[in-house]
Amino acid sequence: MGLLKPVLALSAFTALAHAATHELIVGTFGTNFLYTLEFDDEALTLNLAANTSVPAASSWIALSHDKKNLYGTSFTATTPQFVGYTLANATGITHDNTVAAGGNCTGRAIFVLADPNPPYAVYGSLFGGTAGCGGVMSVEEGVLTDSVQNYTYFSTSGVHGTALSPDSKFLYSADDSGNTLWTHSVDSTTGALTYVANLTAPSTGADPRHVAVHPGGQYLYVVHEGSSELGQYTVDSQTGIPSYDSVYPLKKSNESAENFWADEVALSFSGSYLWATNRARNTNANGGLGYISAFELDDSGAILKQNFLLSTTSSGGSANSVAPCTFSDRFVALTDSDTGFVEIWELAEDGQSASVVAHLDLADGGCCANAVWYS
Ligand SMILES: *[C@@H]1O[C@H](CO)[C@@H](O)[C@H](O)[C@H]1NC(C)=O
Ligand SMILES: *[C@@H]1O[C@H](CO)[C@@H](O)[C@H](O)[C@H]1NC(C)=O
Ligand SMILES: *[C@@H]1O[C@H](CO)[C@@H](O)[C@H](O)[C@H]1NC(C)=O
Ligand SMILES: *[C@@H]1O[C@H](CO)[C@@H](O)[C@H](O)[C@H]1NC(C)=O
Ligand SMILES: *[C@@H]1O[C@H](CO)[C@@H](O)[C@H](O)[C@H]1NC(C)=O
Ligand SMILES: *[C@@H]1O[C@H](CO)[C@@H](O)[C@H](O)[C@H]1NC(C)=O
Repeated sequence: MGLLKPVLALSAFTALAHAATHELIVGTFGTNFLYTLEFDDEALTLNLAANTSVPAASSWIALSHDKKNLYGTSFTATTPQFVGYTLANATGITHDNTVAAGGNCTGRAIFVLADPNPPYAVYGSLFGGTAGCGGVMSVEEGVLTDSVQNYTYFSTSGVHGTALSPDSKFLYSADDSGNTLWTHSVDSTTGALTYVANLTAPSTGADPRHVAVHPGGQYLYVVHEGSSELGQYTVDSQTGIPSYDSVYPLKKSNESAENFWADEVALSFSGSYLWATNRARNTNANGGLGYISAFELDDSGAILKQNFLLSTTSSGGSANSVAPCTFSDRFVALTDSDTGFVEIWELAEDGQSASVVAHLDLADGGCCANAVWYS
């Protein structure tokens, strides 16, 4: 007992020294609110810190490089529109502008991306209707300001997610409806795009949904929504054009892909792990639950192995979007829109498993779409 005391005292001190509260902002698919959450990484508590009324429900939100602004889709608007906010802090959220995008295309705003490099342009994606267009928007001091370009994919396209190369020279578009991965080059002065290539997905009905690029720039990863797979692609360093390399399953081999719709792919803080998720469409497989998976990467970004494929605690609804925290590889936020909640999952120390450490219900009838880590 004499020996135990100092050990306890030391571990308590260490815990206090490292404890920190982190803030997340969460959007919704159908209600005009943005939620600010507080996650205590020592007590492992997740609380609602603010419920902010905003002019739009956002199926996707993205922070600016300096976290002084937030951009979102206006998901329930009948024409494609994007919203911009100024953030005084994680709870001081002020609407700046709503910007129309997409030219002659119809459909709704589904996804938004903010370039972390100058000119910090904002890229908007459209889905449903005749959505074969994308929009480039400018910012002034971070404030979403104007439409600078509407460009076209195929007339049958519907892009559900985009990602930039680490140097922001190329934009990749995951074209779910067009079963294609697009490459555009980025004008470093205006942010405007120029077509470079379109690459048909490796199988019919693979349906690229979201894309993530490794910080090393040699690999990118695409969630194939239709085939419930995670695709690894290599990137040509000269042309920026990806080539399909291999796929990994986001469901059990005895389960049919038609019972799922794979969702998200995102890199951990250090770039050592890749997270991917799947959603259950019905109760015909896996008891109606979705999946969460993590992959171990080598320094270049090549997938070494799939560490696990675990059931999520719900189908995920339209979400099951995974957002790795921005301060360590330890935590990710997972959003559900079936009943409306956010969970924090913790990666095991050996990286071979993960578990839920905090859960917060946000059952407003529209929550929860995606989460971003403000701090
Ligand atoms: C956050 O910003 C708002 C708006 O400027 C301000 O009223 C509020 O006091 C700030 N909150 C904190 C915790 O600083
Ligand atoms: C892009 O399309 C939107 C919606 O039609 C329009 O308001 C905007 O002016 C267009 N932008 C450009 C640069 O033409
Ligand atoms: C939009 O439609 C108008 C009228 O049909 C046409 O003149 C114009 O070229 C179209 N714009 C684009 C970008 O396709
Ligand atoms: C898509 O790629 C094919 C093959 O390179 C090319 O022939 C076609 O013009 C491209 N389509 C568009 C709309 O860019
Ligand atoms: C698939 O196999 C697992 C065991 O690995 C089993 O628990 C599950 O019920 C099977 N699912 C279907 C749809 O057959
Ligand atoms: C946010 O506030 C609105 C009332 O303004 C309420 O209807 C909604 O349920 C609240 N959201 C949550 C998750 O409590």
